Amino acid sequence: MLYRQITGQIQHHFPGCPVAVASCWSDPAAPAPPNLQAGMSEILDKRPVHILHLEDSRVDHALVKFALQRSKLPSEVVLVDTLDDFKRELLSGRFDVVLADYHLPGFTGMDAWDVVRELGIEIPYVILSGAIGETAAVDAMHRGVSDYLLKDSMHRLSHVIERAIEVSQTRRERARAAEELAASRKRLAELAEHLQTSIEQERANIAREIHDDIGGSLAAVKLDLAWVGRHAQDGHVLQHVATAMEMLQHALGASQRIMMNLRPPILDQGLVAAVQWLAGGFERRTGMRVTIRRSSDQIEVPMDVQLVAYRTAQEALTNIAKHTKATAVDIDLSDGEGVLTLEVTDNGQGLSPEALRKAESFGLLGLRERAAKVDGWLDVSSSSKGTSVILSVPLISPHNPNNPDSAANAAEEAHDQGDFV
Ligand SMILES: Nc1ncnc2c1ncn2[C@@H]1O[C@H](COP(=O)(O)OP(=O)(O)OP(=O)(O)O)[C@@H](O)[C@H]1O
Ligand SMILES: [Mg+2]
Repeated sequence: MLYRQITGQIQHHFPGCPVAVASCWSDPAAPAPPNLQAGMSEILDKRPVHILHLEDSRVDHALVKFALQRSKLPSEVVLVDTLDDFKRELLSGRFDVVLADYHLPGFTGMDAWDVVRELGIEIPYVILSGAIGETAAVDAMHRGVSDYLLKDSMHRLSHVIERAIEVSQTRRERARAAEELAASRKRLAELAEHLQTSIEQERANIAREIHDDIGGSLAAVKLDLAWVGRHAQDGHVLQHVATAMEMLQHALGASQRIMMNLRPPILDQGLVAAVQWLAGGFERRTGMRVTIRRSSDQIEVPMDVQLVAYRTAQEALTNIAKHTKATAVDIDLSDGEGVLTLEVTDNGQGLSPEALRKAESFGLLGLRERAAKVDGWLDVSSSSKGTSVILSVPLISPHNPNNPDSAANAAEEAHDQGDFV
């Protein structure tokens, strides 16, 4: 009875197909009919597609198997007709695609789709229904189902399955690539942060060594030379002492300059003083006029924010000296509205977007990383009339001890430690 039903359906859905084909399909021991033998080696070369078929009608399941057999798509189909069985098979993780009927006894294909979503399983999901209305089909697609196919168009089944698998694979690969990209960006940002911290520490160490070692030795030599100068009578010796003293003075000045550049002690006098000192040196070296505007003479910011602002001003000025033919520079420093803003503007020729992507340019990139480390950001705007580098750092942030939250936390921490001691 079922056999007659199936062969009848096959003739209905695949007109012209000899019933012999159906009968040989229904008898697994029988040899494959001639039209199925063609391309069989191709099929055997490929891994079969594992299909989970959610269907309550044996006839429709047989139709699916027949359509797949005709289409040369190597496949293995497992039939389930209850939500529990569906879930169990799905969790086995061995399927490449789900084919689901829409109307099932007591539930729908969309209820089964919800199960797939709840389990967080990524699998192509095709609704295969005899009577899915347009609204239901659109709704299904909206809810993320891969595709739908009417049972009347069964000859397109293998095509729809292959396309759904392809689309899902592409989506998975894209998601994996996006994840890898995000992870690699994160690693890069961590590396940049680590490098910045190491550079600052190394600078401070070198400055200390220059001060203690070279500075100390030069000062001792100076004392000895002065002694020689006081005790020598010979005019030639005195002349040599004078020249040596001059060179020594030069070396002391150079070591002091290097120390200042590495870790300017002026930073201890506050951001405004440090930026003024930086601008003074820049004016002397380049001859460009620097105008500083500030919201007040003392801008109180946490030490790490101050260092970021100082290095930003330093790199912006170095870039102006290196890359522009500017004649004037404006520096604006303000801490209005709870945000520290440092803006360095030149009247040079401006820069192109490509300049910011140069492979071997790390100055502005490094500034962005530094800014992000203190929860701030860097903007670079440019026109043919000049370039502005703008650093903004919100002062109400975990980096700012004035932040009520962080102040409370710090107090709490101190209190906890006190208790512990
Ligand atoms: N004020 C400016 N005016 C015009 N062009 C600029 C200015 N600042 C930067 N540029 C351009 O932007 C590019 C990138 O600057 P960035 O500071 O990142 O790198 P760099 O100065 O070339 O090298 P690095 O800072 O790593 O030694 C520069 O090479 C330059 O072409
Ligand atoms: Mg630079």
